[in-house]
This record gives sequence, C-alpha cells and structure tokens, in this order.
Amino acid sequence: MEPREIKLSDYAPKMIEAIDAIKSSYGSFSAHPSLQADPQKVESVLAELTTRLEDNFPFFHPHYAGQMLKPPHPVAMAAYIATMMLNPNNHSIDGGRATTMMEREVLRDLAAMFGYPEEFLGHLTWSGTTANLEALWISREINPNLAIAHSKDSHYTHTRMAEVLNIPALAIESDAAGRMDLNDLEEKLKTGQIGTVVATLGTTGLGAVDPLADIIPLAKKYGARVHVDTAYGGFFSLIPNSLDPETARHFAAISESDSVVVDPHKHGLQPYGCGAVFFRERSIGRFYKHDSPYTYFASEDLHFGEIQLECSRAGASAAALWATLQVFPLNADGLGAVLQAGRNAATSWHALLEKSEVLVPLQQPELDIVTYFPRMNTLEQIDRVSAELFHRSAAVDRKEQIHLATYVMKQSGFAKRGFDIPVDPARDSARIMRSVLMKPEQENWIPDLHSHVENVTKEITEENK
Ligand SMILES: Cc1ncc(COP(=O)(O)O)c(C=O)c1O
Repeated sequence: MEPREIKLSDYAPKMIEAIDAIKSSYGSFSAHPSLQADPQKVESVLAELTTRLEDNFPFFHPHYAGQMLKPPHPVAMAAYIATMMLNPNNHSIDGGRATTMMEREVLRDLAAMFGYPEEFLGHLTWSGTTANLEALWISREINPNLAIAHSKDSHYTHTRMAEVLNIPALAIESDAAGRMDLNDLEEKLKTGQIGTVVATLGTTGLGAVDPLADIIPLAKKYGARVHVDTAYGGFFSLIPNSLDPETARHFAAISESDSVVVDPHKHGLQPYGCGAVFFRERSIGRFYKHDSPYTYFASEDLHFGEIQLECSRAGASAAALWATLQVFPLNADGLGAVLQAGRNAATSWHALLEKSEVLVPLQQPELDIVTYFPRMNTLEQIDRVSAELFHRSAAVDRKEQIHLATYVMKQSGFAKRGFDIPVDPARDSARIMRSVLMKPEQENWIPDLHSHVENVTKEITEENK
C-alpha cells in the first residue's frame, strides 16, 4: 500500500483489544476490590492530568527548534502501550520471553549498523547515561586506576560517572569545530595515565564529531581503550553520503572501537527509556558475573540480566524499538530518511544564517544542530539579545510561537572560531542560540523558522539602539 500518515488513534484501540484477548484467553477474572476505584474520580484525575500537561513546550511541533526532544513514532507508541499491558521485564527470559527475542533482533541490527562483529555483547538500557556508565565501568575493570579522557565538549555524564566509579577523568581540549584536539590527546596519553579515551560522535551542544578514525590508532599506540559515546549521533551512521566525507570516515571507524553507546530514544523514534550499549568482545560478559538464585530458571540461554548492570528493564522498550525498525529499517531509505531530513534542515538553515544581516552562524553544522547568535559586538550584547530572543519568540499566541534553546559559548570559543568579540573582565561567556533539528518535518519549515527568528532579532536590536 502507498505510505500515509500513521496515527496512534488508528492503531491503539485495536492493539488494546488484541492484548485484552490474549489476557482473557487465560480465563477471565475481576480486579481485586483494592484495585477498584470510583470511575468519576478516575475521570477527574485524568482530566486534571490533561490540563496539567498543557504546561509544556510543544516538543512534537516543527516550531519547537530547541533541545534534543521529539515525540516517538506512533508505531513505537502503539507497540509500547500494547506490550506494557503485559509488562514483561527483559531482565530475564522468564520475565519477558517474546520481548527478549525482540531485543536480540534489534541488537543484532544496531550492532550491524556500527559494523560490529557478530560476537558482540550488548543490550538495551534505560538511558544513554546508564549505557555510558556500564562502558566506563568495564573500562575501569580492564584498566584499574587509570583515567578516562574525554573532550571538554563531551556530555557531563563522563566526569560524573568517573566520580561514581572513583576513577580520574581528564578533559581534552576541543578545536575550533568543537572536536577533540588530537595533539592535546597525545600529550595526555604520553603520561601513561589514560586507560580509556571517550570519543563523542555528535556532541550534545554543537553536534561535533570527534576524529575517531585518528583517535583509535593513537589510543592503541599508548595501550588505551576507546569508548564511543554516540548517544545522540549514532543513527547518522545510516547516511554517510550526506555527511562531510571526513565526518563519515569517523562514523565508519566505530566498527574498530571497544564499546559504543547509542540512544534509540533520541534519533530512533522511541519513547524515553531506550538506550543501548555494545562491546566488541563477547568475553566482556565475564565482568557481569553475579549470583541470582531467584531468576534464570526457564531457559539455559543467556538472560539480559546476566550481562547488564540494571536489574528490571521494560520489555515494552524492546518491543517498541523492534516494531519501529520493522517499519523503518536501519538503512538510508528507512530510518536514514528521517535523519536525512533533519540534516537537510540544518544545512539549509545554516545557508540562510550565513546571508542574514542580524544573525551569524557559529559554525558549520556537522549533523543536525544549528548554532547562531545575534550579530553584535560584545559578550554582554550577544548574551542579552539571545536571552530575549529565546523568551520573546515563545511569548506570543500558540500558533505563532517558536521555541528555541540557548547554549553558553566562552569568549575563547568565539575567538577560536575567528570572531572578534573582545575579552570582557565582567564575564567570560555569552548565551547563543542552539536548535536541534531532529523532527523531519522541520526540513520544510526552515524558511518560516528563519524569518520568525530574524524578525524577532530585528525587533529586539531596534529597541536596543
Ligand atoms: C552525547 C550524549 N551522551 C550522553 C547523553 C545522556 O543520555 P541520556 O539523556 O539518555 O541519559 C546525552 C544526552 O543528551 C548525549 O547527547
């Protein structure tokens, strides 16, 4: 059939009915009195919930061009709701028979996307944070007492998790594009103190891609492991031809890393609660050994609980991802087409920003994050106008609202990129604007978004003259 817009309301009732049928096939029973409730009360609570949910930014709308937020696909939602009605727990095969098999299938596909060998070890997690924690924990077990090195632009989770794991963390300088500086990395590797280098492929702030293909040989030379945090960027592996060839070379090098993390709840159309971690070597499983006399009895096969830090984990997450990837497979025409649209949006907005009289792009977008700031001369002015732009774009009627996000840029960061913004003894940074264009619809909304943002910037700068 011809593709058409998929609505949750077209599928959810059928799925609820189908799962109810599975449940009643075991023989019907009524809920215990302790679980019964006054239907009027339920109705009023759910009505209140709806009212309270009004108090939100419209993450689902193309006019929301701020943080890394977007809604799951209706296929994922329908699958999640249906599976949640049975609430399997992918800790063990006993807890989630069907969903464990689905998780194995999606893991095979994701590992293949990264070019990992078939003997990889991996599993889904609740988040990118837990996925990274696991990879750093394994790194600590392999290289005890040695530090992890991550770029200054990496996600804060790495320093925080180093604290949790009680290992030192070293911040490596980043270059003018926000990528890890190889010279600084080598200087630090030479000390012999680094056990693991964390390369970020798609930094949270700027979407910059660390030079992984060059980091791997360097780390090997000094005996360090390489962990890749591609929680946000990982699915760009599907569209190498739409990336700068140098960026694509670094995505291709993921296949040579020791471990990698990706978040299907970012670019994989999933609801929150879906990260993933992979290790190249299956033998890593030895670090997870634990005693659990109360689980693992229905099957001799490997249970996810035997190779993950977390205990309970939603089987519904695996089901939602499995269903989504059946409809949007991991190739350039499937899920890749979704990423491609965001990438197109970023490059076309960048082109408009380059021609703007009131806004300046900070740097070329490497993935789908666009950063820009008002064309002003001082840190104080840039900061003030950016903050006002953020508030004013959203302070109008709903249909006119544009939602943006800010990012803090240091004076040294402007200077590194060739902007002549003077040092200010009163402050060392300014807020600029950051838009993550991760909703494919935004591809067609860029002229609209751009003219809105330009107009509001003009209005603010006129008032400030
Ligand atoms: C590069 C990177 N790593 C890790 C994380 C943390 O992931 P999560 O929010 O799923 O815990 C993020 C979140 O934005 C990220 O962008």
